[in-house]
Amino acid sequence: MSDEIKKGLLGIVVDETEVSKVMPEINSLTYRGYAAQDLCEYCRFEEVAYLILNKDLPNSIQLRKFEKEEKNNRDLSKNLYEIIKHMPKKSHPMDVARTAVSVMGLEDKETSDSSPEANMRKALRIFSKTPTALAAFYRIRSGKKIIKPKKSLSFSENFFYMCFGKVPQKEIVKAFDVSLILYAEHSFNVSTFTARTITSSLSDIHGAITGAIASLKGPLHGGANEEVMHMMKKIKKPANALKWINNALKNKDVVMGFGHRVYKSGDSRVPTMREYFGKVAKIKKDKTFEKIYDIVEKVMIKEKNIHPNVDYPTGPTYHLMGFDTDFFTPIFVISRITGWSAHIMEQHAANKLIRPLASYKGNKHRKVMQLNQR
Ligand code: SDX
Repeated sequence: MSDEIKKGLLGIVVDETEVSKVMPEINSLTYRGYAAQDLCEYCRFEEVAYLILNKDLPNSIQLRKFEKEEKNNRDLSKNLYEIIKHMPKKSHPMDVARTAVSVMGLEDKETSDSSPEANMRKALRIFSKTPTALAAFYRIRSGKKIIKPKKSLSFSENFFYMCFGKVPQKEIVKAFDVSLILYAEHSFNVSTFTARTITSSLSDIHGAITGAIASLKGPLHGGANEEVMHMMKKIKKPANALKWINNALKNKDVVMGFGHRVYKSGDSRVPTMREYFGKVAKIKKDKTFEKIYDIVEKVMIKEKNIHPNVDYPTGPTYHLMGFDTDFFTPIFVISRITGWSAHIMEQHAANKLIRPLASYKGNKHRKVMQLNQR
C-alpha cells in the first residue's frame, strides 16, 4: 500500500455513482445523463428533484403523484414549530436547518428503517419540510407570524409565499427554480461525501443530512454564496470594484465565488445562472451588482485565470429577490437535499465502510508516568 498522502483526497476516486457527472465531451454537469442547463430550459425544479431521486424524468402521472406527496408533507409538527419559535433569533439559519432536520429524525416513525422504500419516503419528507422550517424561522426572527405552506403553490412559489406572504412575478420564480436546479447535485463534493461517510457506518438519512448541512455551511463550500454578497456589499459601487479586486489580489486574499476543485476552466452552471441574474437585475431595475460582478470576474480571469463558480451569480440574484444574505446557503440546502438523498440511497445499496488511513507524525512510544511523578 502506497504511503503517499493525498491531502483533501485530491484526485482520488473513492466509489462509483450514477447520480451525476461533469461530462467533458459536452463540457457540462449532467444529472442522470441530462445536461443541467437543458433541465433548466425544459423542466421545473420538481421534475429535476424526481429525476435525481428516481433515476429518470417523470411522466405527467408520476409528476402529479410526486408533487402531491411533496405538498402533503410540507407542514411541520406542532412540536417543531414550537422549537423553531424558541430558537435564539440570532442563530444562523444553516444551524436552524441542521437542528430542524435533526428534530425531524426524532419525530419520524421510520428513522431506524434504512430500507430503500423507507429511505425514499423519508427523503421526500425531509425535502418537503425543510423549506417550511426555514421560512418559519425567517418570519419568527423578525417578529412576524409564521405562514403555513399552501398546497396550490409549486415548490418555489410556496417558499416565496412562506417567507414573504406573496409570490413574485413568474420570471422571478423561474430564476429561483433555475438556481435550485443548478444547486441540486454535484457528485462527491464535501457535503455529499460527508453524507456518504455518515451513511457508510449504516447510520440513518436524517443523521447523514444533518451532517451534510453542517458541512455545506462552510465558506469554502456552500457558504460561499453568502460571502460573495458580503464582498459585493463591501465593494458597494462599480466605481470601487477595480481597486477592490486589485487590492485583494495584491494581498493574496481568497476571492469568494471563484475557483473549483473539479472545474479548472469554468463552472458549467455559471452561464445559465448569470443569464437569470441579468433577468432579475433588469426586472428589479438595479444593475449595480451586475456591473460589480463583471468587473471582478474580468480581473480574476485575466490576472489569475480563475473562473467563477455557481455561488458567484446566485449570491446577488438572491439578494435582488429580497432574501436576507444569511438565507442564501439555506436555499442551497433545500435544493441539495435531493442530491444528498440520492447519494445516501446509493451508498446504502452498495455500502463499504469509509475509513481511510493517516500518516502518523506524533510522539514515538512513551511510558505513562503516574500523576505524582509528572
Ligand atoms: C461549491 O465540490 C463541489 O462540487 C462544490 C460545489 C457543489 O455544487 O457542491 O460546486 C459548490 O462549494 C463551490 C465552491 C465555493 N467556494 C468558494 O467560492 C470559495 C473560494 N474558492 C476557493 O477557496 C477554492 O477555489 C476552492 C475551495 C473552491 C477549491 O479549492 P482547491 O481545489 O483546494 O484549490 P486551492 O484552494 O488549493 O487553490 C489552488 C490555487 C491556489 O493558488 P496557489 O497556492 O497554487 O498559488 O488557486 C488559488 C489558490 O490560492 N485559488 C484562489 C481561489 N481559488 C483558488 N485564489 C483566489 N481566490 C480564489 N477563489
